[in-house]
Amino acid sequence: MRSHPCGVVNLDHLGESVTFCGWVHRRRDHGGVIFVDLRDHTGLVQVVFDPDRADTFALAEQVRNEYVLRIKGVVRNRPEGTVNEELGTGAVEVLGHELEILNRSETPPFQLDEEVVSEEHRLRYRYVDLRRPEMQQRLRLRARVIRSLRDALEAEDFIEVETPMLTRATPEGARDYLVPSRTHPGDFFALPQSPQLFKQLLMMGGMDRYYQVARCFRDEDLRADRQPEFSQLDIEMSFVDENTITNLMEGIVRTLFKNALDVSLDDPFPRMSYAEAMLRFGSDKPDLRIPLELVEVADLCSEVDFKVFAAPAKDPKGRVAALRVPAGSKLSRKDIDIYTEFVGRYGAKGLAYIKVNELAKGVEGLQSPIVKFFPADVLDAIMKRVGAEDGDLVFFGADKATVVEAALGALRCKVGEDMGLVEDAWRPLWVVDFPMFEHDEREDRWQALHHPFTAPKVDSIEEWNSQLEADPGAVLSRAYDMVLNGTEVGGGSIRIHSSEMQQRALDVLGIEEEEARDKFGFLLDALKYGAPPHGGIAFGLDRLVMLMCGADSIRDVMAFPKTQSASCLLTSAPSSVSERQLKELSLRIRAKPTTS
Ligand code: AMO
Ligand code: AMP
Repeated sequence: MRSHPCGVVNLDHLGESVTFCGWVHRRRDHGGVIFVDLRDHTGLVQVVFDPDRADTFALAEQVRNEYVLRIKGVVRNRPEGTVNEELGTGAVEVLGHELEILNRSETPPFQLDEEVVSEEHRLRYRYVDLRRPEMQQRLRLRARVIRSLRDALEAEDFIEVETPMLTRATPEGARDYLVPSRTHPGDFFALPQSPQLFKQLLMMGGMDRYYQVARCFRDEDLRADRQPEFSQLDIEMSFVDENTITNLMEGIVRTLFKNALDVSLDDPFPRMSYAEAMLRFGSDKPDLRIPLELVEVADLCSEVDFKVFAAPAKDPKGRVAALRVPAGSKLSRKDIDIYTEFVGRYGAKGLAYIKVNELAKGVEGLQSPIVKFFPADVLDAIMKRVGAEDGDLVFFGADKATVVEAALGALRCKVGEDMGLVEDAWRPLWVVDFPMFEHDEREDRWQALHHPFTAPKVDSIEEWNSQLEADPGAVLSRAYDMVLNGTEVGGGSIRIHSSEMQQRALDVLGIEEEEARDKFGFLLDALKYGAPPHGGIAFGLDRLVMLMCGADSIRDVMAFPKTQSASCLLTSAPSSVSERQLKELSLRIRAKPTTS
């Protein structure tokens, strides 16, 4: 139907007869001449219709935005002074000889070059939104990323294997999406939260190196970087340790960035323990582009006359941390109030601060509602430790360590962004040596920080048993996360490959033997029939592509994402089903569905 895509014609094509297909981006009537900007996935070309060809001109007069056209014409120079440098085709135009209207369009719900279109509108009319050059580029980058990753893995002898979508619950810590079974009334499949157990079984099946571009389903609270349905590049390998996996994976990601963006990432990626990440950045996915760090000052505050600081300073689970903001004393009372409100969302009960006006003046040179509680030598020691300079502001968090880390960790990113301190760079790292378990205070039980199949960092089960007896919270695991500019793009671990150890891990998590057999019996059995040592990782493909194209949300790199409330505006899913379908599935709806 066409000789060229729209966006490629230039001075090399002068005088050539060409045929284009595309959408009308804009139509302008200029006193007897009609201009049509025709658009396809490669770009825009300007077509001119003059009244010399009366029939064609009459058709061109009918044309409206987003009509689908086929145009035959001849490439010619644009008249002097009308060259558009910003357009690839901007030096030329096409004199339209023939015009065929392939399809008409109603007035589009929004103009493609409109600056502000609500996301709701964009999602409802996604097929129009996808025509925007930005969306075209993002989805094309996504395809290139996936192809590059596939090529790299195939070159390393990985094979792609598909795993079931209709399966049992896989514990990744979110709620399951359930699918009722018609043939087993009252029973449900779960959609996989990840292919975790299947990929381990593939290693037990001797597949050696597996990968899959896998769809995962998690019913969890949505955020900009979370969707209920998302894609992982899922990977598993046999007979490897964590170094083999992390080295291979960072190599693949480095090649990807070089090829797709011409960016050279660090070689090797730095590695940082979880403990160090929490201590210095208050986060297990530190954004290393931001030059602000938490500094522990608990040891200096345990004797001060300010209970807010002294109590957590003495509590082994408490923390008192400072965050120095260079040149932060220009922050107003109102700014500080906003930050105080901000940290409140992370559970902080307040946000103490000291403005450093003039260090040489000692206490006199410090401006703060809390200095009165502190002896001069303590203040001096704090200022020295954080490296304060005149004009700085120092924030403080004092509470349980988890609260201080969440609050100041988030504040460090917010202040960094607000004050323009975020370095324009790519800063990847591996976070390693995660604790194996974390204590769920509300339910008073241990939970796996990664997932229950992660191997502990020990040489023997005896060593592990004695660690577990002493303090399950202190046991480290063989897990690793790849973090890029403050986003966790991938996570994985070496797995448990002994049935006894797996049983013990489930035991610590309070999963009784009977329940363990019921839920994971197949895995526990498989571990008894010659399971090789193995490990792997999964990358969040959507997150990776989001970062690579500078999008704010993973919704912008998915063709048909769900909204924040996990619905699809385009198809109006989820939706109610007929009484007959429910009956077939032996289901009855308890609450009357509200129409909203
Ligand atoms: P994990 O749960 O860390 O590990 O997931 C791996 C990566 O998937 C991405 N991700 C998400 N992306 C979009 N929306 C979501 N709701 C979402 N949840 C996670 C993240 C994350 O790093 N089976 C293990 C992997 C393994 O151990 O090999 C797993 O799923 O980028
Ligand atoms: P107050 O004694 O409640 O008036 O608090 C004095 C200062 O300490 C105020 O600036 C509070 O914002 C701050 N503050 C209160 N609780 C905390 C806390 N847990 N961590 C850090 N600062 C706090």
